Amino acid sequence: MKIALIGNGSIATLVAEFCATRKDRLQIVAALASGKNDAGAYPVVDTLSALLNFAPDIVVECAGHSAVAAHAVPILEAGFDLIIVSTGSLADAALWDKIRTAAEHSTARVKLVAGALPGIDALSAAKLAGLTKVMLRSKKPPLAWKGTPAEKTHNLEAIATPTVIFSGNARQAALSFPKNANVAATAALAGIGFEATTVELVADPGITQNVHHLEAEGAFGSMTLQINANPSPDNPKTSHIAALAIMRLLENEASSIVI
Ligand SMILES: NC(=O)c1ccc[n+]([C@@H]2O[C@H](COP(=O)([O-])OP(=O)(O)OC[C@H]3O[C@@H](n4cnc5c(N)ncnc54)[C@H](O)[C@@H]3O)[C@@H](O)[C@H]2O)c1
Repeated sequence: MKIALIGNGSIATLVAEFCATRKDRLQIVAALASGKNDAGAYPVVDTLSALLNFAPDIVVECAGHSAVAAHAVPILEAGFDLIIVSTGSLADAALWDKIRTAAEHSTARVKLVAGALPGIDALSAAKLAGLTKVMLRSKKPPLAWKGTPAEKTHNLEAIATPTVIFSGNARQAALSFPKNANVAATAALAGIGFEATTVELVADPGITQNVHHLEAEGAFGSMTLQINANPSPDNPKTSHIAALAIMRLLENEASSIVI
């Protein structure tokens, strides 16, 4: 399977390293990235049309929200399948509408990666019988919330006990905390939508990992899932599991057994 990457950062590097171990089935043909690159193993281009000229079987976005906004619709309109990891971008209802419309009018499909959300398979299966509650609580060390609106409402350096820095629905969470939006958006998209999914963001001085705790209830019963995610080797802001989730998806795409 020929794979084109959008992005050349920590997730792209891990995915490319993984594909290099599966050369018979997964081949990175090129990456689209701005600025300096030192990928070496495959060409890095700076326009989408140059990327699509490599005729990939699938394009993997691992770049950020602006890349989804700029490239998702043209990729789908050109008939290429697209994996999106920056799902937080889809909290923008107008963008999500355009992407869905482009996919519906094309033979191409959009695949949303589980990323750092635990149990997306169980959540989206449970949804088929009806969900009555989906709640996500995301906890990070206090200083990990620097550069977010929490900086204006809390003295992050002084937080000594777990403190809720945001409480609301998934759309508000994703739009107010765009850099931390991906897991809330994925939960909303897999479950009962952005408005009905409740989100709590917590600054917790007692942890060093990113902790995502998901609770859901419905006709299926109830579930409680938690991931204590280690950071990516090259990017402390990104959970390692986000890259692993893309690898799993690609492995499934290229495999005769899907799990
Ligand atoms: N779904 C999840 O749970 C989850 C978890 C972690 C990260 N993510 C998403 O994955 C993205 C990438 O993570 P990372 O750790 O690799 O980040 P990174 O900062 O290490 O790398 C980002 C790369 O994308 C490139 N880039 C940025 N904007 C671009 C654009 N508009 N067009 C082309 N290239 C562009 C940069 O040049 C860089 O090469 C994050 O921005 C985040 O949105 C999702």
